[in-house]
Amino acid sequence: MSILTRSPAWHALAQHRAALGDVSMRDLFAQDAARFDHFSVEAAGIFLDYSKNILTTETLALLMALARQADIETWRDAMFSGQHVNCTEDRAVLHVALRDRRDVATTVDGEDVMPAVRAVLRKMRRFTDQVRDGVWRGHGGQRIRDVVNIGIGGSDLGPHMVCDALESYAHPDLNFHFVSNVDSTHIAEVLKRVRPETTLFVVSSKTFTTRETLINANTARAWFLQSGAPEAAIARHFVAVSTNTPAVQAFGIDPANQFEFWDWVGGRYSLWSAIGLPIALCVGMDNFEALVAGAHAMDRHFAEAPLERNMPVILALIGHWYINFFGAGTHLVAPYEQYLHRFPAYLQQLDMESNGKCVDRDGARVDYATGPVVWGAPGTNGQHAFFQLLHQGTALIPADFIVCLQTHHPLAVHHDALLANCFAQTEALMRGMTADEVAASLTGDACLIDAHALLPHRTFGGNRPTNTICLDKLDPRSLGALIALYEHKVFTQGVIWRINSFDQWGVELGKRLALHIEAAFASPEQVADHDSSTHGLIRRYLRRASGGASVQSTESIAS
Ligand code: F6P
Repeated sequence: MSILTRSPAWHALAQHRAALGDVSMRDLFAQDAARFDHFSVEAAGIFLDYSKNILTTETLALLMALARQADIETWRDAMFSGQHVNCTEDRAVLHVALRDRRDVATTVDGEDVMPAVRAVLRKMRRFTDQVRDGVWRGHGGQRIRDVVNIGIGGSDLGPHMVCDALESYAHPDLNFHFVSNVDSTHIAEVLKRVRPETTLFVVSSKTFTTRETLINANTARAWFLQSGAPEAAIARHFVAVSTNTPAVQAFGIDPANQFEFWDWVGGRYSLWSAIGLPIALCVGMDNFEALVAGAHAMDRHFAEAPLERNMPVILALIGHWYINFFGAGTHLVAPYEQYLHRFPAYLQQLDMESNGKCVDRDGARVDYATGPVVWGAPGTNGQHAFFQLLHQGTALIPADFIVCLQTHHPLAVHHDALLANCFAQTEALMRGMTADEVAASLTGDACLIDAHALLPHRTFGGNRPTNTICLDKLDPRSLGALIALYEHKVFTQGVIWRINSFDQWGVELGKRLALHIEAAFASPEQVADHDSSTHGLIRRYLRRASGGASVQSTESIAS
């Protein structure tokens, strides 16, 4: 047994779970008229209703004991103070420092990192103001009209999600495009829509070694030069965001056009750094600062609130409760806000790349569940697609419903209908509908025999847990707080599960094998190293690829 599963706090929770048996949320609500008040919390402009969960005051107390046993506060303080909590890469983890505008030092290995942080922020402001005001122009003297971010993973998902979420704050004359996939279709379709003279490429890569990003960036550069632009014009049209200055230079981007960040900023936690450059270009530096301020407000809450009133800690513990004591392997995130349509995709990397681990930080195999599969889609669309399974499927799927109480577009009855649906879904999932209730609702039905046969089909078990996360309105500040809420939830779960949430070794093997296979495409004699499936697929590709389109020049991509 692992340290965690043999711990007193784990045992107490297991016993409590057994004692709760099939307790129903309906009964819990009936027993406590003030359940909503007892199980809700507000912080940094975000309100969390967690009353529709299968838990009691005792459950929470036991979960809090588990959090204390895991030393959450010590780990949290270690992260905030720049200690190397990323043990397998021997690095500090300081995205929180990027959001701290107080005049305080944050030291990493004895050096105050804040002057460098402020210098990059100043450079970002200068540059983004120039582009947005039309002072920074393309090599032919025309204004920049399109910004293409080339990056993947954390160098794409965060900025892309935020730019979409804050679309109503976007510069009216700038279009934003995000190219991440190495699939040529992605960049080809974007290059069709932009003109070299008016396009700015932001090549975003922490390491500047990521193959997808470098292939896309090379294609963009070749396309740009093939338009007749001189080599010197690259400086007006290509900037880089990276920690790796030599690689940026080797690519041909002037260091003056590099926006720096540091190895203590994890890729999936990097939108607060210069990786947020597309965000600042899109919504302006003041709105970027408001985003950061919202996140900082959540940081202060996480750092200062007692665990019992600490929103990220509460969400983390509830998630742990379901994953480990109800066997819930997935977690749904349903934003009832169209602007947040990319939020689930962003969260997938944040959560699954952070906590998808099967050994603890000491390298011992865990005997409990760690990160869930995170998935989701905006409401109300999901209701007409997969909600059937939430209501009547065999799996228990805990869900977060994210809702904004005010809309940017108060059109007719849309917002009332949206929110009614959101609240109705959480109520339906919690209450369900018993066979008696279904039968009562059918009295008077002309065809009672058929109605009776349909009872099992029309019955809802209910007792399906949800959190409702309310923002007053989606603006830069509330979005910043929301993102930080999830970052700290993921961190807290990682600490409870004794894993390192800040490495991602699991992505390395596939990267290495892909390089090997790509080499085999060029020298087919190497193909023999593979299993028969991989070997067969490679052979089939080599035979059939020549039957498809021939390799296009970047000129023809553009046309
Ligand atoms: O493949 C995983 C990963 O390393 C992510 O953690 C990271 O966000 C992404 O690749 C992109 O990395 P980079 O910013 O170095 O190009």
